[in-house]
Amino acid sequence: MRFLDDRGGRDYGQPRLSFLSKGFGAALIAASIALATSAFAASPADDAKQIMSDRCAACHGNTGSGDGPSAEYLNPKPPNFHDKKWQASITDEEIAKAIVHGGPSIGKSVGMAPNEDLENQPKVVKALVQIIRGKAKWPESP
Ligand code: HEC
Repeated sequence: MRFLDDRGGRDYGQPRLSFLSKGFGAALIAASIALATSAFAASPADDAKQIMSDRCAACHGNTGSGDGPSAEYLNPKPPNFHDKKWQASITDEEIAKAIVHGGPSIGKSVGMAPNEDLENQPKVVKALVQIIRGKAKWPESP
């Protein structure tokens, strides 16, 4: 009991400090969780927009007209997604299949590359289909 005697039993400093640092630690953890979730909380629609400009615009163009910078090297060319005839010629399922497994999976050109990593992200694929169908905003549209 020498410890208590020395300090007259009135030392609240230590426990109080550890309480504070626990609180601080908890706040830090909460802050990092908030940061981590905000980084991963993008909606499927946001992911789709990002993918569209990162992976698709090079060939399909910024608005899906089929006029991306790489399009001139392709034969056949990417379709114009705004063409009503083209829209009528294809089902949502075929669009989704072409995106995930590539053009050849629906009897089209290898110029349309597969995105197999999206196979486990059906919501993102659905959002891509909606952009292509004109039901969702294009990433670069105002
Ligand atoms: C390297 C160029 C290239 C990239 C990158 C690319 N595409 Fe394509 N895509 C094409 C070409 C070329 C066609 C036309 C294939 C055909 O008509 O045989 C096509 C066709 C399509 C079609 C329609 C299938 C058809 O031909 O009727 C869809 C839908 C499509 N692409 C979506 C996408 C999406 C979404 C992305 C991004 C994840 C993407 N493409 C990335 C070149 C590309």
